[in-house]
Amino acid sequence: MNLSDCHNIDDFRRLAKRRLPWPVFDYIDGGADDEIAMRRNTDAFADCDLVPNVLAGVASTDASVTVMGRQSALPLMLSPTALQRLFHWEGERAIARAAEKFGLWFGISSLSTVSIEEIGAMVTTPKLFQFYYHRDRSLNRAMVERCKAANFDAVALTVDTIVGGKRERCARSGFTSPPRFTVSSALSYAAKPAWALNYLLREKFALPNLDTHVQEGTGKPISIADYSSSMLEPGLDWKMAEQLRDDWGGAFCLKGIMSAADARRAVEIGADAIMISNHGGRQLDGSRAPFDQLTEIVDAVGGEVEIICDGGVRRGTHVLKALSAGATCASGGRLYLYALAAAGQAGVERAIGLLKDEIERGMTLMGASSVGQLNRDHLRWRQGAVTGT
Ligand code: FNR
Ligand code: LAC
Repeated sequence: MNLSDCHNIDDFRRLAKRRLPWPVFDYIDGGADDEIAMRRNTDAFADCDLVPNVLAGVASTDASVTVMGRQSALPLMLSPTALQRLFHWEGERAIARAAEKFGLWFGISSLSTVSIEEIGAMVTTPKLFQFYYHRDRSLNRAMVERCKAANFDAVALTVDTIVGGKRERCARSGFTSPPRFTVSSALSYAAKPAWALNYLLREKFALPNLDTHVQEGTGKPISIADYSSSMLEPGLDWKMAEQLRDDWGGAFCLKGIMSAADARRAVEIGADAIMISNHGGRQLDGSRAPFDQLTEIVDAVGGEVEIICDGGVRRGTHVLKALSAGATCASGGRLYLYALAAAGQAGVERAIGLLKDEIERGMTLMGASSVGQLNRDHLRWRQGAVTGT
């Protein structure tokens, strides 16, 4: 199986599984507890059907949207994800360049393996920094200053990770950052020699946004769950979020909002955008899917704050359903991570290209020449499923 055999996100997933040591693959692929929320995030889209308008004279489509003051050529963002150089040696650089090529918004994690400064200098496409609010306040201040100096377009504070999710696949594999080579795990790494050689011979693994202040995750191996539970601020509250927004002073997003009441509070503290998200089902299992919560939140705060639907997106039609329900745009992590692991930047470009094609074909078949023409008239929820109206 090669890159040219990948025609959808699931194909990239299969190729990624072949290329990665299983503890690394399971870190990307897995969720919390029984992984019900993770599966539901995608299944939710199948409980809602599209109703097209025909004979609409759609000779061309324009899928662009404006998010937090910057244009994106597609209504799809690349969500921030941690540790990318473990998935492919090109890591965040591949994502940044692919996003720039397609004119998309993308994010880097606080736990990115390429620095704020390097990403800031590398691309002009809109970029957000995903902020993990640490117990170490001097680290928080340093990250804000670095984002300002590097001209990031937005900061997104993640609010659903004040304790690590129960990732049972990672507990079984013993996955840590940086990877720890024990006798049993060494076998899984030796089974993928191309990955192992890249890991050992290329630039040394690092978390350059954090390693100025903390050893954990770089010099000192730690599981991602333990990192969240021991390093991040468990008492994070609205006051701290508002203070961070003030300290940063630029476009500000809350990532992990799930209720209409919290969306209202996000408006009150002056957030520019919210990402409706359950962290890809990696934190609170049994959480409702972002798409299932979307209409409720749009009805409460639509027009007052931009609404990004994050999680479960694997198809262009998923993006069109989110837009029809009232989202400003959709966003996703695994949709590009499998492709990164499968084939680096070339893989990510192919994955985005496929989704672009699906979005544009879908708009044409829906009778929509621009994103603004999609609305709830185009949606019907199935009997017994959550209702959208
Ligand atoms: C993530 N996500 C994430 N979110 C965040 O705020 N900070 C982070 O460091 C990470 N890291 C991370 C790593 C990996 C491997 C995954 C899969 C996800 C969550 C991410 O931003 C997004 O919310 C989910 O990926 C959305 O779900 P889908 O698109 O993967 O289904
Ligand atoms: C994750 C953390 C890093 O989802 O956000 O793995």
